[in-house]
Amino acid sequence: MARIAIYPGSFDPPTNGHVAIIQRGLNLFDRLVVAVANNPQKTPLFTVEERKAFIAEAVGNDPRVEVDSFDGLMVEYARRRGIHTVLRGLRAVSDFEYEFQLANMNKKLLPEFESVFVMTGEDYFYVTSRLVREVATFGGDVRGLVPPNVAEGLQRKLKK
Ligand SMILES: Nc1ncnc2c1ncn2[C@@H]1O[C@H](COP(=O)(O)OP(=O)(O)OP(=O)(O)O)[C@@H](O)[C@H]1O
Ligand SMILES: [Mg+2]
Repeated sequence: MARIAIYPGSFDPPTNGHVAIIQRGLNLFDRLVVAVANNPQKTPLFTVEERKAFIAEAVGNDPRVEVDSFDGLMVEYARRRGIHTVLRGLRAVSDFEYEFQLANMNKKLLPEFESVFVMTGEDYFYVTSRLVREVATFGGDVRGLVPPNVAEGLQRKLKK
């Protein structure tokens, strides 16, 4: 049976940190469903469709990677898809507390649910979407921190 995991996130925008987690996730799982959260409470920089396109392109349209989006609870999405494993990345201590809460809450909501964590390497441990948005907004160079298509997308979006 194929091993499949969901890798959920905002991906606003996807960074090289996200891409590294996807690549490493593919060493653990046969397939990944990268699921872009559509959170109506947040005003994103990029639309869900833009974020999905960035991810698909950044992984070279790898057939093992499905890119989708979801509204509402991630466990409901997982239940609907029949996938009970979630992949998450861990950066510093700051990620731990939130991820620990989330993993336990998800297990409470869906007992068969398991969270698998991949720890980021030294290259991208400081890279967050929020920081990338801030740096790019003030004209800083984010090449090397995000895939080339995202760097172009940021330039296009922020020139307006
Ligand atoms: N550089 C990175 N290294 C390892 N894991 C990461 C990295 N960036 C994000 N992740 C992980 O990917 C998942 C989805 O993250 P998310 O889309 O919220 O990105 P983010 O960078 O935290 O965005 P934001 O700054 O908007 O909160 C989370 O598990 C997060 O910890
Ligand atoms: Mg975050």
